[in-house]
Amino acid sequence: MPTKDGRSQIGVGLIGLGVVGSGVARALLERSDYFARQVGAELVIRRAAVRNLTRPRAVELPPGTITNDVEALLADPAIDIVVEVMGGEEPAGTYIRRAIASGKHVVTANKELIAKSGTELLAEAHRRGLDIMFEASVGGGIPLIAPLRRDLLANRISSIRAIINGTTNYILTRMANAAAVAEALRRQGLEPPTGGYQEALREAQELGYAEPDPTNDVQGHDAAYKLAIMATLGFRTRVHPSQIHTEGITQLSPSDFLAALELGYAIKLLAIAERTDQGIIARVAPTFIPLSEPLARVDGVYNAVQIHGDLTGTVLFQGRGAGSEPTSSAVVADLLDLAHAIVLGTRERKYWGPEGDIPILGLEHLETRYYLRVKVTDKPGVLAQIARTLGDHHVSIAAVNQKETDTDARTADLVIMTHRAREGAVQAALRELATLPVVIQVSAFLRVES
Ligand code: NDP
Ligand code: HSE
Repeated sequence: MPTKDGRSQIGVGLIGLGVVGSGVARALLERSDYFARQVGAELVIRRAAVRNLTRPRAVELPPGTITNDVEALLADPAIDIVVEVMGGEEPAGTYIRRAIASGKHVVTANKELIAKSGTELLAEAHRRGLDIMFEASVGGGIPLIAPLRRDLLANRISSIRAIINGTTNYILTRMANAAAVAEALRRQGLEPPTGGYQEALREAQELGYAEPDPTNDVQGHDAAYKLAIMATLGFRTRVHPSQIHTEGITQLSPSDFLAALELGYAIKLLAIAERTDQGIIARVAPTFIPLSEPLARVDGVYNAVQIHGDLTGTVLFQGRGAGSEPTSSAVVADLLDLAHAIVLGTRERKYWGPEGDIPILGLEHLETRYYLRVKVTDKPGVLAQIARTLGDHHVSIAAVNQKETDTDARTADLVIMTHRAREGAVQAALRELATLPVVIQVSAFLRVES
């Protein structure tokens, strides 16, 4: 079936031919006949723009397709859909605006750009009867954007809880396993292996999971971008990444993984957005989660997202959250959807729109349980002082354990689990704890999901 204007081909322009771009190109080349049958026209890569023309590519494209001239790609009238898989806010944002201004649909995997400017970009595209699709921006190969824009639309969504960064989940899984192995070896009087965090990060980079700048992964920013996108779609109000409390995984120590395991928890970088009567609280941080919870058992590059809707109850999406192939699945799905719309000549498509502004609350309003690891001078009365300080701020201790004692230095590590408390009160208590002469340092402070 030709397009409404009589063409049998739909032109695609790729900006970026790295991990994601090469996966997309490979799928389009290898499954070309199947896609043509599904859509009703052949999808043809007209140009693929890169920075470095001499870099070897993971996919072979017809001669003359690869270019470093993005301007020519954007100006090419034979390109109907621009696929932006280069990443970063700029110049990607400018390229997408230019593509829209030239009457081209856009598919993007760029969570940073969509999280920060998606609402405006989408509005501009729709003013021109065009669409920007971004399924690959969250959760790699897991369908999340389409369900949030369409399948869950009937619901009032009250919470989104997610493991949404493959790189950090890969690293945390490795660190948890390494901590358990090291402890077992130590008990047998054997020397545990070194390495760990850096080695796991290097592997995640080699596997194509990490962002071009992996700081975005390990500092929690990538997860915050993704949470902002999901919360904006799910709560139908604008949630900007700057409104999300964000902590990374770089401060975690093997002691915390061991303490978690002994207490029956895993440590995961959780991205959580909750809607209360007062507003929305959104956070990304390494968090204790009971081993009995499905999210605690999501390991390696796998991501999982739990969404609670008033009609559906809790639904769980799970799958590979990063890497060339899963991400190419999401990008190509968007491409096929747009191509089909072009074939049918459909201009007006379903547009998600905000329903009004819901206040975004600061983290001081959060109420949850907390895990603290405090290095103290090992002498009588210390625990009583700490308990008193927490109690003065209405933070009640649920369990306490003296974990490690250094007899030479006369110091000890206290592991404390609190009952539910207000974050504002806990933070005030921590500030006061840090001033006590018996407290050497508050070594760890993590929230506990239950
Ligand atoms: P890569 O670094 O592997 O690829 C980026 C590509 O963009 C490269 O081909 C690069 O060219 C090209 N590029 C960068 N800047 C320019 C520019 N100014 N002009 C032309 N081309 C440019 O990144 P990924 O493929 O991993 O990621 C791409 C996007 O997909 C990002 O937004 C990322 O967040 C997102 N994403 C990535 C996932 C993953 O698992 N990797 C999963 C989901 C989303 P050259 O090769 O010459 O350097
Ligand atoms: N760097 C991202 C991750 C890629 O590790 O999850 C997928 O968005």
